[in-house]
Amino acid sequence: MSGVGLVAVGALKGSPGVTTAALALAAVWPAGAADAGPLLVEADPSGGDVAGWYGLLGYPGLLAWAAAARGGAAAVDAHVWALAGGVGLVAAPVEAGSARGAVAVLAQTGSVPWAASGRLVVADCGRLDPGSVALPIAGAAGVLVVLARPVPAELARVAGRVEELTGAGRRDCVLVLAGEPEWSAGRVEEAVGLPVVGVIPHHPRAAAGVAGGRFGRGARRSQLLRAAADIAADLDRRLAGRRGGSSRALAALPSAAPLPAVPPGSLPRAGGRLPVVPGATFTISRPGGQAAASGWVPTTPDREGWQ
Ligand SMILES: Nc1ncnc2c1ncn2[C@@H]1O[C@H](COP(=O)(O)OP(=O)(O)O)[C@@H](O)[C@H]1O
Ligand SMILES: [Mg+2]
Repeated sequence: MSGVGLVAVGALKGSPGVTTAALALAAVWPAGAADAGPLLVEADPSGGDVAGWYGLLGYPGLLAWAAAARGGAAAVDAHVWALAGGVGLVAAPVEAGSARGAVAVLAQTGSVPWAASGRLVVADCGRLDPGSVALPIAGAAGVLVVLARPVPAELARVAGRVEELTGAGRRDCVLVLAGEPEWSAGRVEEAVGLPVVGVIPHHPRAAAGVAGGRFGRGARRSQLLRAAADIAADLDRRLAGRRGGSSRALAALPSAAPLPAVPPGSLPRAGGRLPVVPGATFTISRPGGQAAASGWVPTTPDREGWQ
């Protein structure tokens, strides 16, 4: 069965277009046997961008999911915003403190791989820094995608962490290049030690189209979305192959520091106030698009834990 599993996307440094690539992959993922459409989970501890792109700044997605997961892994369905084109979105809050706390809870409880047991989930893990709270999510992925610009320093940086990224060869970790390389894919693979599954071309207009949710037939003819479709098809085969093949357990990426305690006040208490942008409206939608809850958030987040 294709169309099911967890793909994590991240970068080691800079901002090479991880969120754009993750959203593009989810939008063009090949149709599979899963009932639910592909889901983008913005598990970026440094804060999300997608809520801003879609005018959903008050939408509690990841925060509400993490609040539900405080006692253990929680189902994602109630926290999904349905985007055009059949993609589900769980957006992170823009602010790093809240995002980091939410990602830590979801990572510690295994909620993201659980969500991917019946559908395709693309997790945007942001920067895969050694101490990132998103590393357990990246480590649990069926395929870990590292996005890097094809310049010597970036490729050397990835090469220096191949052992860790692949879990010493047990994890399927692949490279996607952000922009056309000066060298052949084969040479890059040889230098880095990871398979190159594609190139996301530098294309500001198409990238803006992805951020604007333009995934219609015309947009899909853009170089960027065609490249994303080829990459998604390759990743889907890898996920399907893994399910049918090896039963080896995948090691979690080691994290340099123990997972931090979730700062008080960074997550909503169940039934309590939502720490979202003051004055914003929010709507929680159910799969299928109908609103499950909506409202106005007049208060500032509870921040006493940060004093
Ligand atoms: N393939 C691309 N070509 C041109 N610009 C891009 C591309 N991908 C992303 N961008 C632009 O780069 C900026 C950062 O993109 P984003 O996806 O948020 O990166 P990251 O998640 O790595 O920080 C945005 O302005 C985005 O529109
Ligand atoms: Mg990003």
